[in-house]
Amino acid sequence: DLVPERAAFKPQGKWKRRLPKVIIIGIKKGGTQALLNFLKAHPEVTASGKEVHFFDRFYERDLEWYRRAMPYSYENQLTVEKTPSYFVTPQVPKLIYRMSQDVKFLLVVREPVARAISDHAQSLEKGKTTPFEEKAMLDPRKCSVDESWSAIGIGLYSVHLTRWLKYFPLDQFLFVSGKNLVANPGAEMGKVQDFLHISRTLTEKAFVFNETKGFPCLRTDENGEVRCLGKTKGRPHNPVDPRVRACLAEFYRPYNEQFYNMTGINFHWEE
Ligand code: A3P
Repeated sequence: DLVPERAAFKPQGKWKRRLPKVIIIGIKKGGTQALLNFLKAHPEVTASGKEVHFFDRFYERDLEWYRRAMPYSYENQLTVEKTPSYFVTPQVPKLIYRMSQDVKFLLVVREPVARAISDHAQSLEKGKTTPFEEKAMLDPRKCSVDESWSAIGIGLYSVHLTRWLKYFPLDQFLFVSGKNLVANPGAEMGKVQDFLHISRTLTEKAFVFNETKGFPCLRTDENGEVRCLGKTKGRPHNPVDPRVRACLAEFYRPYNEQFYNMTGINFHWEE
């Protein structure tokens, strides 16, 4: 059925629902669905289809509810869930820590201005009409950024990560480059599989770049059957006033630098 290596999986233990060992906590519009879809194609991974929102919305339901929201898995599989709002919701790190101190976190990061534009494109599709420039700027003549707009606030990665690092050590996080996930999915997924200690099943061969979509898609079998993400992933964006763009880039610069220092990775978003 799937690419040949995937057939080698030998299930072990009971087939039951388990709490996640891995959570994709964000970042919204970073490429979180692509990462989840790619991981789902791995035989040692099972993942919940929908965003579960247990730690940010439904925490009054108990851990048993959360476990039941997970798919069935074997003992030698990793259960993964993705809820990108976890990264920016203040109480979430503590609540996850209460469940388990060993959870591994995947965070897909993207240059924050591009992320904000992508976020806004999504809200336009959901019926909002205010142009990006108007939302982002308090006063366009003065280059003052409206930090209270959520599309801007989500991009303050160092601020959010600081809260997580109060509960979990840095080595429990993998920072996945959203850009590389598009440009070189085989290599980026290699890092993800190593981090999760699962076999390197998803290699370059598992992906095909679809020119029409402009993104890599998954090869699902040897007959060339290919699966891309849906229409809401990889939307066209309206052009944004370059002055507003420059102003935002300047605004994010110190936060980005702090984020590079915290993670030990320079994502080169200023280039
Ligand atoms: P755009 O729609 O703005 O292009 P998320 O899943 O976190 O909401 O992220 C959506 C973004 O994932 C898309 O933003 C797109 O750029 C990016 N992406 C990364 N890999 C992709 C892929 N293989 N197919 C489609 N979109 C992908």
